[in-house]
Amino acid sequence: MASKRRVGILTGGGDCPGLNAAIRATAKTVIPMGYEVIGIRNGWQGLIDDENEILDSVSTSGIIDRGGTILGTSRLSPLRVENGPQRVFDGFRKLGLEALVVLGGEGTLSVTSRLFNSMGLPVIGIPKTIDNDVEETDYAIGFQTAVQIATEALDRLRSTAESHHRVMVLEVMGHHTGWIATYAGMANGADAILIPEIPLDNGRVEELCQMLRDRDKKGKRFSIVVVAEGTELAGKPVLRHGFDITQGENICRIEGLGGIGIVIGEIIEKKTGLETRVSSLGYIQRGGTPVAGDRILATALGVRAAELIQEKKYGEMTALQGSRITSVPLEKIVDGIKTVPLDVYKVAEIFFG
Ligand code: F6P
Repeated sequence: MASKRRVGILTGGGDCPGLNAAIRATAKTVIPMGYEVIGIRNGWQGLIDDENEILDSVSTSGIIDRGGTILGTSRLSPLRVENGPQRVFDGFRKLGLEALVVLGGEGTLSVTSRLFNSMGLPVIGIPKTIDNDVEETDYAIGFQTAVQIATEALDRLRSTAESHHRVMVLEVMGHHTGWIATYAGMANGADAILIPEIPLDNGRVEELCQMLRDRDKKGKRFSIVVVAEGTELAGKPVLRHGFDITQGENICRIEGLGGIGIVIGEIIEKKTGLETRVSSLGYIQRGGTPVAGDRILATALGVRAAELIQEKKYGEMTALQGSRITSVPLEKIVDGIKTVPLDVYKVAEIFFG
């Protein structure tokens, strides 16, 4: 009897809620098509190290609501490993795979596109990242849950801010974009939202402080300020652990972002005299159960990925455009970042102050 046709699935980069829903959807759609599904452990690392497991209809059942990824993930890029692309290709061959589904953010999907173009690796990408910065798709898996968690955090901060007549600053993730900050801030009715897309120069800092003073004078004796981790102060990124961008080129790396909340909080308190407290949501916004919107998106994108496998339409990324699930060539998203459009930010801005 001929051995079964095989499809591999891996999750790369940072985890997010909804990955398991997408793994489940892809597996449960391709299994009835006659495929065996191989889950690659820990992103590209698992292809290089030959670490994998069979995913069947039993192991992919009951996981639609589970956070994280049952496969594990890593930030390893095969492009930064000696002979990495070839080792990935060898791992793919060894498993007898016909196609590989890669769940990733902009970084992982850019690597996926390069492996498709340079090695002819038959890949399908599915966009996932709480940052929502993957181009060509309106939403990436995980974003809606992160927005929900950040909104709930802001609502809680408002009640304690009101009691103590304080300014509350919340730092949220987003890498170099302000999607989570803008959406959660809008949902909460925040008084100010600071994002990397809108340069924060000294003039804007002054305006922010004046607005906070005015609110206080009017009798609104609390304020909520949301700041995206990638927001630069006077053109300079603020990095966790006090790293200075000028100290060496390896310092400005993805893990280093964070800390702008504390800096902004200190400036606000010093310049306005208003009691200010700072919180950073950190990894809480990336963990736990996906909201319904992410489960539905993950399911639809996973099913589309399965259809692309059947059609042998490789080198594509599944995408949500408007209310339509579609796909685009992976190379369209390589090294691009989808930033928050000004008109979206302006809607939130109407309610500042
Ligand atoms: O890309 C998702 C993200 O959570 C960013 O928002 C954040 O800057 C980064 O990952 C944190 O990365 P790590 O998990 O490597 O600390």
